[in-house]
Amino acid sequence: MTDRKATLTFDDKTLELPIYSPTLGPDVLDIRKLYAEGDVFTHDPGFTSTSACESTITFIDGEKGELLHRGYPIDQLAADSHYLEVCYLLLYGELPTRAQMEDFESRVIRHTMLHDQMVYFYRGFRRDAHPMAIIVGVMGAMSAFYHDSTDITDPWQREVASIRLIAKMPTIVAWAYKYSIGQPFVYPNNKLDYASNFLNMCFSVPAEEYKVNPILARAMDRIFTLHADHEQNASTSTVRLASSSGANPFACIAAGAACLWGPAHGGANQACLEMLREIGSVDRIPEFIARAKDKNDPFRLMGFGHRVYKNFDPRAKVMKQSADEVLDLLGIEDNPTLQVAKELEAQAIADPYFSEKKLFPNVDFYSGIILEAMGFPTSMFTPIFALSRTVGWISQWHEQLSDPAHKIGRPRQLYTGAPHRDYVPVDQRG
Ligand code: ACO
Repeated sequence: MTDRKATLTFDDKTLELPIYSPTLGPDVLDIRKLYAEGDVFTHDPGFTSTSACESTITFIDGEKGELLHRGYPIDQLAADSHYLEVCYLLLYGELPTRAQMEDFESRVIRHTMLHDQMVYFYRGFRRDAHPMAIIVGVMGAMSAFYHDSTDITDPWQREVASIRLIAKMPTIVAWAYKYSIGQPFVYPNNKLDYASNFLNMCFSVPAEEYKVNPILARAMDRIFTLHADHEQNASTSTVRLASSSGANPFACIAAGAACLWGPAHGGANQACLEMLREIGSVDRIPEFIARAKDKNDPFRLMGFGHRVYKNFDPRAKVMKQSADEVLDLLGIEDNPTLQVAKELEAQAIADPYFSEKKLFPNVDFYSGIILEAMGFPTSMFTPIFALSRTVGWISQWHEQLSDPAHKIGRPRQLYTGAPHRDYVPVDQRG
């Protein structure tokens, strides 16, 4: 793969480290022999300079603000493709032919229902449980309900588990919502497209006729597409780490969803909308910007900043445009939250604190406004992110299992605790 080498010299040792040149992105030093040959570890909390795997799925150029899936830019996919086609692309590496797409769609459609006994599993949760708590539980429980697709050494079972997860996530998420508001579960309708089916399961009730608005379905599909994958982020790395032990696919994806829930990751869209509401009016923005800049105040501008993007998140641009379209369609004029969002973005970008630290709006900055306008409560924002990201998690899981170099993930540490000491019985402690 390479004949270039970096030379590392320390104490009386000199080590040669192979340098790899990826298709895109910075060169990578291979340090796998560092401990064996140099008796040292590297120290990189938060993995800011560490490549943990080789991947061909997604590439982000944080400086340019570019996101590519299998080489295709996200703005082209968001404009001209649709979620299930992007799922195919992420899973299998190429855009499908018409026949491949039809076959894939029919496989997904055949798996949208949940095992009927899962209803009782839902009923075990308190009504006021956060939908993410239910979703993490239900995803993990799939290992018990679909035990016939948990053998990771069997490619056919891996494929069935993948299709099951993509197909059932809308049902799992919609039912978590229905349960939390005390409405009956709505079964999937396989005549509807993926996004319309999800909206129907969330918003229809047996007593009323409900027709999915195609423009809202398109906006929903675009939200799914924009969140489909994002290379080695925290939840995806969690899935890979869980999978490295040989855990079953449903357990791995449940672990990813649990990680996604945190406010620094997938929980940011909920936190962002709550922050915009708390700001409330344009005249209070300077006060919140001052708080975000204050080192002694833990407050951060939610929906701002990103570990990788040091420029506009390309997904935020599409999301902003989508927010305008959806509010326009729904006749929501002068939406105060959108006004606060637009003005906050303008003021933050003009402020040297944010520009010097390269803090720009991320995908979560506008997604909450669209979801709220569609009728979703804030508690559903992260579940919708989890639904969308499931395909990314599965694609990365597949890739890892197919990689002959993969081994159990086991980071090392810089130990700064007590040195060896002997146990003292309780009656002899001072
Ligand atoms: N508001 C104010 N200051 C910020 C913000 C923010 N949103 N984000 C980062 N900073 C500042 C930090 O205080 C730090 O300042 P310092 O260098 O003076 O100490 C500097 O910028 C770098 O911040 P880090 O936390 O070191 O950057 P990191 O890459 O670890 O964090 C993160 C990235 C977690 C996304 C961070 O920007 C953040 O907390 N943002 C708000 C939450 C959010 O929107 N998360 C969504 C991420 S996108 C996603 O998951 C889909």
